[in-house]
Amino acid sequence: MKYDLVLEGRILVEGKLIPSAVCILDGRIEAVKRIAPTGSETGDMIRYGKALLMPGTIDSHVHFRDPGQTRKEDFASGTTSAAFGGATTVIDMPNNTPSITNGSELGKKLDIVRKKAHVDFGLYMMITPETNSDGLRALLRKSTVRPTALKAFLGRSTNSLVFDPISDLSSFAGAIEETGTVLAVHPESGRHLKEGSGDGDPKGVLRKHNAMRPPLAERMAVEEAVKALGTASSNLHLLHISTGDGIEASRETGATVEVTPHHLFMDIKWAEAHLENEALGKMNPPLRDTDHRSSLWRALNDGKVDTIGSDHAPHLLDEKSEGSNSPSGVPGVETMLPLLLDSVGKHMTSLERVQHLLCGSPARRFSLEGKGFVSAGYDADITVVDLSSSKRIRGEDLHSKCGWTPFEGMYGVFPQVVYSRGELIVENDVLCSRPGRGRYLSSAS
Ligand code: DOR
Ligand code: ZN
Repeated sequence: MKYDLVLEGRILVEGKLIPSAVCILDGRIEAVKRIAPTGSETGDMIRYGKALLMPGTIDSHVHFRDPGQTRKEDFASGTTSAAFGGATTVIDMPNNTPSITNGSELGKKLDIVRKKAHVDFGLYMMITPETNSDGLRALLRKSTVRPTALKAFLGRSTNSLVFDPISDLSSFAGAIEETGTVLAVHPESGRHLKEGSGDGDPKGVLRKHNAMRPPLAERMAVEEAVKALGTASSNLHLLHISTGDGIEASRETGATVEVTPHHLFMDIKWAEAHLENEALGKMNPPLRDTDHRSSLWRALNDGKVDTIGSDHAPHLLDEKSEGSNSPSGVPGVETMLPLLLDSVGKHMTSLERVQHLLCGSPARRFSLEGKGFVSAGYDADITVVDLSSSKRIRGEDLHSKCGWTPFEGMYGVFPQVVYSRGELIVENDVLCSRPGRGRYLSSAS
């Protein structure tokens, strides 16, 4: 067998880093060998020494603002930022302008973004109580322009339509169960969110935001959604769980749980001490008290968390200068893997768990064929990482259009090199990709 490319490095096998040669042909992993093949079998052979060859990560929660708000981000800048952060697959949210609530809008969005994508991508479609359930069933069954997954906002959030009452989710239980579709929800119950706009005061922004959107709203949303969906709760994916109560409410329901880097690495107290502009830590659901943050880490290490998604939600700095009136959301697609790898170095969790939560687990959850594993038969999406190369995170080094990060000054282990389907897309701080090379992944049905 003659391979196109062989990468030598170490891969993670049952918790151990094992020297290996990943043999690639036509964009796929043909074999993983302990001893590198001989010269006549290799096309290009690249030696990465002791570096980790991990699967390209999957960020199943990004808002790339395209179409509609491309001054904040577009699909080219968003997927560039993803690539530099080691993510070779992203799934993009539907709260665009206009909202992506039907097959026609989804098709139009796909035409726009596929010309710009540097990495492979999926797309969510939004459902509301007005969505026609027979129409939805038909859309999920047909194979062209099928959404990768569905999304419902159970309470208002940035640029979203609200799914109210939550009990109406029951109308969609049949369609999602029959077609094996994931329904991701923003679990803050609208009925438990307090009304009122901010007073623009730059102080106390985060405490007020937490009080307006209390932990109870999260617990109630989880309980109400599970009640409405019944057995279809196993298709439910609970996004950005931010509290210990939310984790508890999700137990034994069949639903899967996402947490975000911002709720893992920041809390209100930390943000008050470190963010000069508190609004840079304002998002939905809000940053919480330290106890909740500890609960999330405990849950993650106890196997009660299924995926980590960045909820990359860029807003411009001038928009974030409005104190409590600033829009909710923070960027994070490029810093997610780096922060988590740094946390492995600090013994907060294990490398095995990080790889599972960012690669294999989201691939399985969203039925992304060929993704998530460095193993024969999978796509050659490979992120090369020197685990000892932690560096300070600086907004100006990142590639989102928004130009800032809430994690400024924290440490991260950034990838050295990234391959997508066997093609080099990032090497030592240089983008080697071209827009339009990313492929649309509707989930395998
Ligand atoms: O903080 C948030 N920002 N939460 C959301 O639900 C939406 C997001 C956005 O799109 O800005
Ligand atoms: Zn989001």
